[in-house]
Amino acid sequence: MNERDSEQVSRDLVSRGYEMTPDEKEADVVLLNTCSVRDLAEQKSLGKMGMLGRLRAGRPEMIFGFLGCMAQSRGDELVRGSGHVDLVVGTQKFHRVADYVDQLWQRKVRLRDQVMDDERYSIVDVEEEAGSQETIREHVLAERQATAFVSIMQGCNMHCTFCIVPSTRGAERSRRMEEIVREVEGLVARGVREVTLLGQIVNLYGRHEFEKRDEMSPFVQLLEAVHAVPGLRRLRFTSPHPIGFRDDLVYAFARLPKLMPHVHFPLQSGSDRILKAMHRGYTAEKYFALTEKLRAARPDIALTTDIIVGFPGESDEDYTATRTLVERVGFDNAFIFKYSPRRDTPASNLEGQVPERVKEERNHDLLAVVNRFAKAKGEALVGQRVEVLCEGPSKTNPDRLSGRSPGNKIVIFEGGERHIGEIFDVRIERSTGFSLYGTPAVL
Ligand code: 5AD
Repeated sequence: MNERDSEQVSRDLVSRGYEMTPDEKEADVVLLNTCSVRDLAEQKSLGKMGMLGRLRAGRPEMIFGFLGCMAQSRGDELVRGSGHVDLVVGTQKFHRVADYVDQLWQRKVRLRDQVMDDERYSIVDVEEEAGSQETIREHVLAERQATAFVSIMQGCNMHCTFCIVPSTRGAERSRRMEEIVREVEGLVARGVREVTLLGQIVNLYGRHEFEKRDEMSPFVQLLEAVHAVPGLRRLRFTSPHPIGFRDDLVYAFARLPKLMPHVHFPLQSGSDRILKAMHRGYTAEKYFALTEKLRAARPDIALTTDIIVGFPGESDEDYTATRTLVERVGFDNAFIFKYSPRRDTPASNLEGQVPERVKEERNHDLLAVVNRFAKAKGEALVGQRVEVLCEGPSKTNPDRLSGRSPGNKIVIFEGGERHIGEIFDVRIERSTGFSLYGTPAVL
């Protein structure tokens, strides 16, 4: 979601004549889009901004800004805490960034030419704005870019007790279905083959704005409408919540062939006691039953998840329950996070905060389980032909190409320009557990 928001901001700047540079030392404007979901993410962007301050030496006209979630939650504290931050823009104001950069730039130029007095000046905008969910809709596409993210909603009303997002991203607001479909049509016309619909809790899309129709939730109606776009080859979404993941969505995986067989399905914990304390609204058994239903509807479906270890009060038994459920489901992969207390969230004030060492142990232990399954899932594909959408050169080795399988696994292979942006079979020869390696069928 942050990448998507950043893309909108760069597109706005580029459309006014700014140019992107891969080198911050060359830049006149450096904006950091920030994440608040864990403290580490905030510390990283604060550290990065600190380092960037050195670039200001001898170039007072340079502009530095924080955008996004940490900007939203810390506001002008970010200006006061640094000698060089000029701009702080929250999550509902990305579409104002280009205006603010223009304003700051003009002011700095006047200052440089001594037309104005020297004084510290900054812009902070962390207001809410009705309709801001409709503003993330334009794309900067690279040549032959085959995949794109489409933001379908903003905010979250779930209030999981560990999570800062409801306060940084605001209340749930959905875009209009026609707007989303039009955006996807535009992308397909520019060569995009696969879109991923994005939302904090995508399956709750439109629940305040639109009616159910023929027993179908607004989200499944949206999936159908996007699925019907001619020329679109693959459809994905991320991330859903087990609450509101009903049969209409389960059966969409059986009905809609372009809907790729992968669900990133955040579990968070396998202990009912902890799930309750997290305000997740489901039990371990209910979650497991949903995964079984998905597998019955689409036997090849890949399942990945998010898990938090060391939530306040998590005992050895609670952790073991998580581990047991992870083994029962057999995820294709999982992100494991050590619980990180977030400001103004209910869980941060709970008794029984778990020592860092215990979080570390559980993280390590669970990672071994997750990796064992990831490896087995990859090995099961060795010797098979897997359909791949080639995205371009591999990030780790630009001499090779990289793409994704229907189950969203990374596939690495040798190929040429002609493969980029195309869909074709790759015969899998080897798996590391993280990536699959193979040889493409002739194209
Ligand atoms: N501490 C650790 N992990 C967290 N997540 C969200 N909030 C926290 C927190 N306070 C994790 C959840 C979520 C993912 C995006 O980040 O697992 O699904």
